[in-house]
Amino acid sequence: MFKLATFTVLSVTLVTANINITSPPITNWGVWGRFQHCPLGYAQGFQLKTESYGGSFFDDTGMNAIKLFCGDPFSFGTTVITSTEGDFGEWGNVYSCYPGYLNGFQLKVEEYQGSSDDTATNNVRFYCTNLADNNYLEGDGLGFGDWGQVQHCYSNQVISGIQTQVEPNQGDDDDTALNNVLMECSDFPPKDYNSSDITKVQIK
Ligand SMILES: *[C@@H]1O[C@H](CO)[C@@H](O)[C@H](O)[C@H]1NC(C)=O
Ligand SMILES: *[C@@H]1O[C@H](CO)[C@@H](O)[C@H](O)[C@H]1NC(C)=O
Repeated sequence: MFKLATFTVLSVTLVTANINITSPPITNWGVWGRFQHCPLGYAQGFQLKTESYGGSFFDDTGMNAIKLFCGDPFSFGTTVITSTEGDFGEWGNVYSCYPGYLNGFQLKVEEYQGSSDDTATNNVRFYCTNLADNNYLEGDGLGFGDWGQVQHCYSNQVISGIQTQVEPNQGDDDDTALNNVLMECSDFPPKDYNSSDITKVQIK
């Protein structure tokens, strides 16, 4: 009887249909960093690291990193996840869709500039479960480039993980920092979610 119960718990927990959504690679410089996903909860806010515009004789990089908040961004102790952080810029404003969840994104990317200064990704918009369909939170990145295709989780999913492709510091050569983004979408709420079941599986 106990064994049967344990088996049931395991099979429920392993049935997941997570998907990854990825930015269409308008630029493709750099290395994919580590993948991180929320240990508990799901993404409810974000923060961008952006290098401010340095003028025509400066090697601009635009966006350098993205943080996701696994819970209320303005609540003390909320877990933050990120992937590779580019070397340049400062962390900007914190954007929240709490009590809603992030469920899609769109990048603003400057395409290849030839011998001119490349910046790759400059800004990001996130879509939220509690905003009307075509509404979004737009980050405080730079204005270069064009908004690309929107990437959406399925309607029953929300964003739960992140991985970024960032060009390492090029020294005297043209730096672009962040180029592409992968977001993991998880079923929400998880099928047959029962916090005591999850605890049992972790112990096992
Ligand atoms: C999503 O991407 C991460 C990191 O690249 C990978 O480990 C994971 O297996 C992917 N998940 C799916 C469902 O493809
Ligand atoms: C969750 O699991 C516990 C222990 O197995 C059970 O007593 C409880 O009724 C379950 N809760 C729900 C909402 O299914």
